[in-house]
Parts: sequence; C-alpha cells; structure tokens
Amino acid sequence: MRKVAIALSKGGVGKSTTAVNLAAALAQRQRRILLIDMDTQGQLARMLNIAPTHTVADVVSGEAPLKDAIIEARPGVDLLAGGRGLAGLKRAIDRKEFGGEQTLSEALAALDARYDYVIVDTAPGWDVLTVNALFFVEEVLTPVALEVLALQGLQEFMRSLAAIRRYHPRLTLRYILPTFFDRRVRKSDEILQQLRQHFPAQLCHPIRYNVRLSEAPGYGQTIFEYAVTSTGAEDYRLLAERVLNDEHTQTNA
Ligand SMILES: Nc1ncnc2c1ncn2[C@@H]1O[C@H](COP(=O)(O)OP(=O)(O)OP(=O)(O)O)[C@@H](O)[C@H]1O
Ligand SMILES: [Mg+2]
Repeated sequence: MRKVAIALSKGGVGKSTTAVNLAAALAQRQRRILLIDMDTQGQLARMLNIAPTHTVADVVSGEAPLKDAIIEARPGVDLLAGGRGLAGLKRAIDRKEFGGEQTLSEALAALDARYDYVIVDTAPGWDVLTVNALFFVEEVLTPVALEVLALQGLQEFMRSLAAIRRYHPRLTLRYILPTFFDRRVRKSDEILQQLRQHFPAQLCHPIRYNVRLSEAPGYGQTIFEYAVTSTGAEDYRLLAERVLNDEHTQTNA
C-alpha cells in the first residue's frame, strides 16, 4: 500500500484536482484507492458528488468506525471526507501535549491492506492537519502552478518538509507536478526549465491548463467522466502511468 500526500502550502495550485483525477486514473488501471480529504473546505466530496455523513474527524474522535465513514465514491475509489468537522479535530490536536502529529496515523492504523493507494489531499497553508497527513504518508506529490514565484513557494515548502523528515525520515518528496502549463506563456516554459534543472528525478510531465478540468467539479464528475478526450484527461492518465511505473521501485528510505 502506497501512501501519498498531495501538498503545497500555496493555494489553488491544483492539489484537489490532482487528488481526484489521479485517483480516478489509477482506478481505471484496476488499483483500489482511498482518498482522504484533510481540508476543512471538504472539496473532494463535492467534486465527486458525494454527501458524506462522516468525516475523518469522526473517525479520529471515535464517533464513527472507519468502515462506516468510508464511502465508495466510484468503483475502485473510496472517500474519507473532510469538511468543517475537521476544525474540531484541529483544536483537539492542538490541545494534546505530545504526539499530536501522530493522531491521524494512530486513527488509521487499522486501515486494511485492501487499498493499493491512499491519497491524502491537504489544505493550503501549513497546519496541524497537514503535519498529520505528512506523518501518515511516505510520499509527497507537490503540484507547482507554473507562474511567477512558483519556485519560492516550493523552496519554502521543502524547508517545512525537511523539518518533518527529521522525525519521519522515510518521507520523500517523490513527485513535482507542474500544473496550469500553457505553452503560449513564456514564463510557463521558463519555470518548467528551472524545475527540470533542480528536480530532474521528481519532475513529472506537466498538466496543461485545460478549462474542462475546472468545469468537471461543477458537475460532480472526474475529468474522465466529464471530458474523457480532453487534454486534462490525457495529462492525468500520463501522471497515473508515471506513478504506476514506480510501484516496484523503493523510495530512498
Ligand atoms: N490544469 C488546470 N487547468 C485549468 N483549471 C484548473 C487546472 N487545475 C485546477 N484547475 C482549477 O483551478 C482551481 C484550483 O484548483 P484546486 O482546487 O485543485 O487547487 P488546490 O491546490 O486544491 O486549491 P486549495 O489550495 O484552495 O485547496 C479550481 O477551480 C480548479 O478547477
Ligand atoms: Mg484543495
């Protein structure tokens, strides 16, 4: 079972879009996925047109058993929803004197091995919920929107990751995913070149700017349901291939 967090402190870079569509693409390749939404915005349920009765917070507090809180969103894709309930979880973690960063890992310790991937979507910013997500996973996928100051945001995020790695050395920044790629914008290409220089091993094929990707959530659909022939669908399929290719290679643990 691979556990991957989709994370970057900067908002609106395509984290949730990537979580949903990567999960959908992996499911098409017969993998079983659990999506976990660690954002109080609770976007993933809406993007998948699901009305959740429980959130991750209910599982952590013991209010709901894991099996009741997990909803089958699509064949092969289960969802453990986020949402406003997570605000209470945040406060509960803040009140802990020690071990707060392991709260999610402890609550999910019983997660069975029937999943091939657990994909955790995180909120923008840097809070205890993101820290918990990072302690729970081993791999990080960081979407980087190809725009001015993209690299600064990435560097700052990498410093925060380094701090966590001191206590959780297996955590690896495995994938850097350029998003909102637009060949007509010169800056887009320049930043892509810089990413290629700095992160040759982690760099993934970019996700192009594609208006279909922004429309699909309004219909509660993944890109494969909403516009299967779009460039967005093509790009997320390619990302899934990249991730699948690494199934048999060790992370630098
Ligand atoms: N490649 C793309 N092309 C066009 N629109 C996109 C693309 N990727 C994401 N979007 C749109 O951009 C907006 C931000 O994307 P998304 O919500 O996935 O980002 P996020 O990083 O999860 O944001 P937040 O930090 O607020 O959680 C959304 O409206 C989404 O539909
Ligand atoms: Mg999001």
